[in-house]
Amino acid sequence: MTIAERALEFVKDGDVVGLGTGRAASAFVRALGARVRAGLRIRGIPTSQVTKALAQELSIPLTTVDAVESIDIAVDGADEVDPDLNLIKGYGGALVREKIVAAAARKFIVLVGTEKLVSVLGERGRLPVEVVPFGVATCCRHLRALSCDPIPRETDFGVFLSDNGNAIIDCAISTIPALAQFEQDLLSIPGVVDSGLFVGMAPTVLVQDGENVRVLQSSE
Ligand code: A5P
Repeated sequence: MTIAERALEFVKDGDVVGLGTGRAASAFVRALGARVRAGLRIRGIPTSQVTKALAQELSIPLTTVDAVESIDIAVDGADEVDPDLNLIKGYGGALVREKIVAAAARKFIVLVGTEKLVSVLGERGRLPVEVVPFGVATCCRHLRALSCDPIPRETDFGVFLSDNGNAIIDCAISTIPALAQFEQDLLSIPGVVDSGLFVGMAPTVLVQDGENVRVLQSSE
């Protein structure tokens, strides 16, 4: 079984489903599309324009965060998962919408391979931070003072802009010892919209381990 198939078991008829961004989330959206074709009635809320286009291609009915009272379940990938199920996300640049949707969802399912499991967040050496374009230079200075090495994300066509029209600064980091304090320090930088740290969100993490799916659940 795949993590995308396993995630489908958490989705019920009538649910509002947050649709994440990235390879793992796209695999889930494709599996969900097949279920919708077979008669499952759900409404999806995509966390990026890329996921929206995929969902539309699959004829998955869509809605928006503004139009619903609550989100039943959000399914997304992650870039790092620590033993307390705190996450780093945002390598795909959709971290702000992903966090809005995950935080609004009653259940948050995260789909990863074993390579994303770390003992301390930061092990893979990168933390994306979304900032308003006007503040890129000053944010970089603040980030350096926090011992991050800030690299504004670029594409072949110039500066990368998120779906919110903001810049993404990829911070080269090492492991983060005091997570709560570090997150607070990041969020207090003027111009920072949010970081890729998803702390204390108690997700259910489905890990693809060869042919098997491991389920990690926070004990709280
Ligand atoms: C998108 O902004 C990210 O948060 C992705 O969810 C994350 O990068 C995982 O993506 P993959 O499933 O492609 O590794």
